[in-house]
Amino acid sequence: MLRVIAWGTGAVGREMLTAILDHGHGMRIVGARVYSADKNGVDVGTLAGRDPIGVLATTDVDEVLALDADCVLYTPRIARLDEVCALLAGGKNVVTTAFLFHPRRIPPGDRDRLAAACRTGNASIHGSGLNPGNLSGVLPLALSGMSRTIDKITLQERADWSVYESTSITFDNMAFGQPVDQISPTASEFLAFNSSIFEEQVWFLADELRAGIDEVVADVEAVPAREDHQVFEHLLRAGTTAGQRWTWSGRRGGKTLIEIETLWTVGGEYPPHWPKPEHGWTLTIEGDPSMRAHFFALASFARTASMAEHVRSASVATAMQVLNAVPAVCAAPAGFATTARLPLISSYTGFGCSAVGLDN
Ligand SMILES: NC(=O)c1ccc[n+]([C@@H]2O[C@H](COP(=O)([O-])OP(=O)(O)OC[C@H]3O[C@@H](n4cnc5c(N)ncnc54)[C@H](OP(=O)(O)O)[C@@H]3O)[C@@H](O)[C@H]2O)c1
Repeated sequence: MLRVIAWGTGAVGREMLTAILDHGHGMRIVGARVYSADKNGVDVGTLAGRDPIGVLATTDVDEVLALDADCVLYTPRIARLDEVCALLAGGKNVVTTAFLFHPRRIPPGDRDRLAAACRTGNASIHGSGLNPGNLSGVLPLALSGMSRTIDKITLQERADWSVYESTSITFDNMAFGQPVDQISPTASEFLAFNSSIFEEQVWFLADELRAGIDEVVADVEAVPAREDHQVFEHLLRAGTTAGQRWTWSGRRGGKTLIEIETLWTVGGEYPPHWPKPEHGWTLTIEGDPSMRAHFFALASFARTASMAEHVRSASVATAMQVLNAVPAVCAAPAGFATTARLPLISSYTGFGCSAVGLDN
């Protein structure tokens, strides 16, 4: 039984907790790090909307560091290198949805610190999720197994974030509702960080597929709202940012070979000059053969579900991609357990059979 700590109990962290509480996953929750004062001292089961389990969440980082655990499920809004290094050096493996999608291309100083902490604690760290993660890492590599030649890979993400309840991410971090001239790859710490993780993903594909690119260029077009829109507790005012079209282009000799593009809106308006793919993610590999896959996550294709349930399904997918990786990450040699180096991550208890049965 692997002992895990939830570091973050937001939308993604809660999905991991309920997966363990409801389905076991061969894991036992031994602690939780929370940020909000009103979650401090609350039972982790209660925080996840389940019965109490006798484990209390805490805002005290030292208390969490002192716990004995195999793995930390690290899902804060913003990753802090100091705390991640402390976890690793203390012998805890870390899986995260928040950062580290291609360790080779992060700033060398950060990479060295993380690698040293892994060595000290004989621990591994793995970053993944939905996108960045599966759709911009695992899926393109898997499809490329059918390629003879590849001219270009494009992943297009179309999302209206009006339905996403984590408005601190959409409004505070991603700067929807701010003046359009305040949206750029360097405009704030968060936008710079967010841009860097998609740049990492482009480098990841380029490095794994030996594309030989020499640069990844980030660009964004911010589009103002024509009208006011109420989005949960926020008023998005006309004239402020309601659309963000980002591109991260991996180029060789000026020619784009790998590109991630986002078509993000809040408020429901859609800029008429933007391309119009279906909602979700469209992965195109132009080459021999040319392939296209469209991915869309819903609560169900078979039954009626509320919008909140449908929206939650993206958090479920994000959470499960890293929760399902925990056994492999715990078993991996110390260091960076990247998407490309781990075995294929698949569902552990998806069909409801016991873990023992699956191992036999
Ligand atoms: N790779 C992917 O596909 C993918 C997809 C979705 C999200 N993500 C990432 O996964 C992480 C969690 O996302 P989410 O949707 O669960 O976000 P969320 O619902 O906003 O939850 C964020 C968590 O951050 C905590 N937090 C509050 N203040 C903080 C601070 N100052 N510094 C750091 N953390 C703080 C919150 O703690 P309290 O609840 O105790 O206040 C909460 O546990 C984020 O880093 C997000 O960017 C990745």
